[in-house]
Amino acid sequence: MAKTRTQFLCNHCGSVHAKWLGKCPDCGTWDSLEPYTPPTPDARSARVAGAVNPDGDVTAGGEALPIAQIEEAKTPRMPTGIGEFDRVLGGGIVPGSAVLVGGEPGIGKSTLLLQVAQSMADKGELVLYVTSEESARQVAMRAKRLGAKSDRLLVLSETNTERIIHQIGKHQPAVVIVDSIQMIYKPSLPAAPGSVTQLRDCCMDLVYLAKTGGAAVIFVGHVTKAGTLAGPKVIEHIVDTVAYFEGDRFHAHRIVRCIKNRFGGTQEVGLFEMTGGGLKEVTDPGNLFVEQYGPAGQPSGSVITAAMQGSRVLLVEVQALTASSVIGAAKRKTSGVSSDRVAMIIAVLEKRAELRLAADDVFVNIAGGVKTIEPAVDLAIALAIASAHSNRPLPSGTMVLGELGLGGEVRSVPHLETRLREASRLGVAHAIVPSFGAHMPALKGMALMQVRRLGQALADL
Ligand code: TYD
Ligand code: MG
Repeated sequence: MAKTRTQFLCNHCGSVHAKWLGKCPDCGTWDSLEPYTPPTPDARSARVAGAVNPDGDVTAGGEALPIAQIEEAKTPRMPTGIGEFDRVLGGGIVPGSAVLVGGEPGIGKSTLLLQVAQSMADKGELVLYVTSEESARQVAMRAKRLGAKSDRLLVLSETNTERIIHQIGKHQPAVVIVDSIQMIYKPSLPAAPGSVTQLRDCCMDLVYLAKTGGAAVIFVGHVTKAGTLAGPKVIEHIVDTVAYFEGDRFHAHRIVRCIKNRFGGTQEVGLFEMTGGGLKEVTDPGNLFVEQYGPAGQPSGSVITAAMQGSRVLLVEVQALTASSVIGAAKRKTSGVSSDRVAMIIAVLEKRAELRLAADDVFVNIAGGVKTIEPAVDLAIALAIASAHSNRPLPSGTMVLGELGLGGEVRSVPHLETRLREASRLGVAHAIVPSFGAHMPALKGMALMQVRRLGQALADL
């Protein structure tokens, strides 16, 4: 039997080291390493992998097969009844799967999951809602506000994982919600609750239970704005599906984005609005994220574009502002788009369109707390900056699409037709689009201006 050596695990980033150090070499946090005994390959993992049987007979167990002979697993799904959440999960919860829902504190995780719990209980599924942060009474109070009162929705206020597992065994629920994973612990482990060791071990036990017992588990995890706290990140690989809340609690709208899904596509988003009666689904986002300016029209620096959010098109408003800055210390601040991308766009504007921005602070924001990483919004960002710089607005109701190349060329974007159709439906009358390769649909009431180079798009400004 191999000797097990104690290793040291960083409480902050989850990395494992052979010896104790005052500062974690991976994340640079001081005093974060604690002794850690790696789990031995016990009967549990052997059973999961189905590889070697306990008496060491390697001829028994799993057998490699040609891929065509392997039967496809049929994944039955339990729709939660909350359409936008089902969309994120790819049609519903898969029995026996583990889902992680993360987000900043106060963004609405508990609200959403209580609504999911209620909706599933209404459909006749037995749901166990484990609250490790609030008392059962607090949950009941919130549930009352949300109109949840089904007999099939059980609430357990508990932080001890072993007792949670006991309750799961006793009631055999179809869905278990653990809100939140940061607060549960196993008394048999020496580490503190919320540490990486506790988090990993507790989650592994619950996921194992899900895989063998058939109950689906939904974990709730807090992330901070910087996303660095030891938390959801370290269990992302243990679970099947990961969805994060986007936006911030100062806006009414919430976006739930799927970033990993073993049972369906990722990048699908769910849209919600926080109301007095909980989270309300937004099924037709339309131009929700575009400010409706009055007859005065759009101000300078504001450009409308169409961003893809999963399979849906969202009209969003890119806002830019330039202001004179201290020479040599120009700031570039962004929210909702990558600052690296904006730095590149500024460089292209300087070099290919002779816009002088070196002495200006540049701020770029996507209104409404929406985030996008699509290069398809490059041209809209460039025009917003140019418009802010010249203090001249674009013609009212103009939408801009296109990726910007380093040479100042405007490149085509994926799903151009889908984006244009949606914009046309919402009454966009004029669009600046790339002219490369794309087949242009004829759209009623929409005038298209096809551009090849950044200079052409800037002609009006
Ligand atoms: P919560 O779901 O507790 O956030 P999390 O679990 O992510 O920390 O609550 C989010 C916020 O939503 C909270 O500040 C209160 C507010 N809220 C409403 O506006 N309407 C409601 O019906 C509920 C239940 C909460
Ligand atoms: Mg909560």
